[in-house]
Amino acid sequence: MFPLRFRTLILASAVALCATVNQAQAQKPDAAKGAARPDAAKAAASDTLERGRYIVEDLAQCWRCHSPVDQRGVRDRMNWLHGGQVGMRPTVPVGEWAIVAPRLAGSPPGTDVQFIHLMMTGVSRRGRFLRQPMPQFRMKQDDAEAVLAYLKSLGGK
Ligand code: HEC
Repeated sequence: MFPLRFRTLILASAVALCATVNQAQAQKPDAAKGAARPDAAKAAASDTLERGRYIVEDLAQCWRCHSPVDQRGVRDRMNWLHGGQVGMRPTVPVGEWAIVAPRLAGSPPGTDVQFIHLMMTGVSRRGRFLRQPMPQFRMKQDDAEAVLAYLKSLGGK
């Protein structure tokens, strides 16, 4: 009898111990989540900036018109997106053509709402399309916001 009862006791203790360990493990993810929240916000902000950088630098290449050209005829890295001569002319008549593109780095022209509207519709703050060669973008709102966030991150120098 005794050994059997003893064994039952050991089994019961083992079960209780397992339950305690399980509980402790179940609580862990919550604690980890709490600690990770500020990092998650930071990661989301840096995702937005990276998306904006990708659109401005790689996809739409705003710098091809909005950066000045240096003495070698190369877009000037020191004054990146500070505005400049577009440096191209149409070979056929295309209507109105702008020869200067404004500065975008730091604080692009217009309010945030006007900028996002321009990126989403091609319609400028003056209620009409801009002159060529400014492309008429049709970005999604998320992309337009990411572009604005990235341009602002370039500072007002
Ligand atoms: C092919 C050349 C070219 C490219 C590429 C280009 N732009 Fe422009 N952009 C221009 C020109 C030229 C103007 C001036 C148009 C005018 O004065 O009518 C302009 C004007 C603007 C303005 C001023 C709007 C206003 O209300 O005054 C903004 C903002 C702008 N561009 C943003 C961008 C962004 C952001 C990108 C990239 C996503 C970009 N542009 C790509 C040529 C370009």
